Amino acid sequence: MSKPRILVTREVFDETIAFLAAHCDVDANQADVTLTADAIGRRLKPAQALMCSLTDKVDADLIAQCPDLKVVANIAVGYNNIDVAACTARGIMVTNTPGVLDDSTADLAWTLMLATARRLTEVESYIRDGEWTGWRLKQWLGVDVHHATLGIIGMGRIGQAIAKRAGGFDMRVIYHNRKRLAVDLEQRLNATWVTQDELLAQADFVILQMPYSKETHHLIGAYELAKMKSTAILINSTRGGVVDDAALIAALQAGTIRAAGLDVFENEPKLNPGFLALKNVVLSPHIGSSTEATRRAMAMTAAANAVATLAGQRPPNLVNPEVKA
Ligand code: GLV
Repeated sequence: MSKPRILVTREVFDETIAFLAAHCDVDANQADVTLTADAIGRRLKPAQALMCSLTDKVDADLIAQCPDLKVVANIAVGYNNIDVAACTARGIMVTNTPGVLDDSTADLAWTLMLATARRLTEVESYIRDGEWTGWRLKQWLGVDVHHATLGIIGMGRIGQAIAKRAGGFDMRVIYHNRKRLAVDLEQRLNATWVTQDELLAQADFVILQMPYSKETHHLIGAYELAKMKSTAILINSTRGGVVDDAALIAALQAGTIRAAGLDVFENEPKLNPGFLALKNVVLSPHIGSSTEATRRAMAMTAAANAVATLAGQRPPNLVNPEVKA
């Protein structure tokens, strides 16, 4: 019996390819050339599985061209790049990679928070530019993270991992989530549920960690930024689009809030050039989960999801359980 075929749209690790090859005919893109939607459509047509990344748009048009497709295995926890309803309607399973990236992504949110509070990118440029002539008492004053109030919007697994880390910094943690956590979990995390408006008004640091969807598009815009303290810092470590970037740039220019730490942007990688002119932002290129161990685990998780589906099993990380295969 011939093996099922899988298209892997981006470069993955050699061990991922070796695992897939034991179960499938693999059409890999180890050269990591950017594939157009047409190229993906052409190469996916004869395949039963797709292993893709958050930069690949998997929409109704694409899947309509691929009658044999059984599974779309995203190498990401977020899956807003995939039209899940269209996949479900065609009996295609969609999977993601939850769990394995929680701690690394929480670490990056903290990295941005600390770096922004202590102006790390500004001071590093100052040294590199040869401008440091000596120590001064009032030089490069930042703000304290310890004992400050941390507000987390989106208290799923990654939000909780961010909250856990706050204990070591003696922070007060408040959070907002559509669904309030169970009381014992709130107690373990030492986190208090508040309304979004209360959170925006009270937090010294606001971290966004909710998934992107139509409902969370521009969740933070001019109105919400105006509700924040003028001393507050905003961290977006989840998805571009949950923040109205033009409104954020205006708020950072006007001093409506103090600073922002951003790993994700609208229209990335072509981010709004307004960010580049600002000193009070710390920018990183969507690397929340990017440690070697975590990216290896994410690729293997996606591969295992694809292989399980092709073997007729329910994949471990199915995001559309209502699908009828
Ligand atoms: C990364 O952004 C992910 O969703 O895994």
